[in-house]
Amino acid sequence: MADLSTTYLGLKLKNPIIIGSSGLTNSVENIKEAAANGAAAVVLKSLFEEQIQHAANQAIAQNEQADFNTEAKEYIRNYTRINDVDTYLNLIRESKNAVDIPIIASINCVSMAEWTEFAKRIEAAGADALELNIFILPSDPHFSGEQNEQIYFEIINKVIKTVKIPVAVKISYYFSGLAKMALKLSWTGIAGLVLFNRFYSPDIDIENFELKSSNVFSSPAELPISLRWVAMLSSKVQCDISASTGVHDGKAVIKELLAGAKAVQIASVIYKKGFQEIGVMLTELESWMDRHNFASTDQFIGKMSVGKAENPAVYERVQFMKHFSGIE
Ligand SMILES: Cc1cc2nc3c(=O)[nH]c(=O)nc-3n(C[C@H](O)[C@H](O)[C@H](O)COP(=O)(O)O)c2cc1C
Repeated sequence: MADLSTTYLGLKLKNPIIIGSSGLTNSVENIKEAAANGAAAVVLKSLFEEQIQHAANQAIAQNEQADFNTEAKEYIRNYTRINDVDTYLNLIRESKNAVDIPIIASINCVSMAEWTEFAKRIEAAGADALELNIFILPSDPHFSGEQNEQIYFEIINKVIKTVKIPVAVKISYYFSGLAKMALKLSWTGIAGLVLFNRFYSPDIDIENFELKSSNVFSSPAELPISLRWVAMLSSKVQCDISASTGVHDGKAVIKELLAGAKAVQIASVIYKKGFQEIGVMLTELESWMDRHNFASTDQFIGKMSVGKAENPAVYERVQFMKHFSGIE
């Protein structure tokens, strides 16, 4: 029987499927269900700087008549923050007690704020690793790409100095020099890169002239974005890569591993089909490995990456010339 195990961030995983950070991983019940259905690890729902501030502001607004002075408001903000952070730390502790798969904590950073202290507490609570979900939408015309990128390095350097557990960084593809940025990130000492996060995106309701959210869940058609970059970067970066976005079936898991990912992170497919889909995906992976005589994942991880594929130029191709696509 094929050995599905892999290593990611120095953690031994029984198979390459990780449940990505989302509402699927924000309770012990869900995490138990994920583990029972075969997930090799989970990334907890991110704790957001914004979320903490929002909760504090709500608590203040709900007590309008109390007319808090500045000191009282600050007290409430601190209290809410401590409360949210404590709830998160409890989730780590309880999950560690409930399941025997690695628990990867996640924090969303848009600035350095107080996350260094928080990272220490996450480590103390028993998290096996920490994923930094960093995203700065490069929408401010006053900020150059370099200035935006600098923020990533500041956050990473501080967190890395603070904790001993492996740190992964989950990024978007909004970089003008994505390949160089990924390389530079991998040189900071992080243990992994997650390619890519998928974001809340806007849409317009043309009948009611309202702004709304576009599809919250990915579709399998989004897979090629991460597939291309995993393949292009996996043999170059000095850390592991896990693939995220558009992995909806066993075939997609196989493709990402062939491209060089050590593991994949899934969310949308589980929202749509339930945790039992993990088993379906693993069965597909296993029967494919048997069919191709692969006894273990390390025999084929990266086999189709830019460094090893026979015709890697395909990854660089971006224009639909008839010659390549067969379509005029
Ligand atoms: C409802 C929902 C909530 C999410 N929350 C987070 C989050 O808190 N932190 C994070 O890093 N990613 C979050 N994500 C992104 C997922 O972890 C994942 O990267 C993305 O959905 C792409 O994977 P998929 O195609 O398998 O859905 C969320 C995704 C969904 C659908």
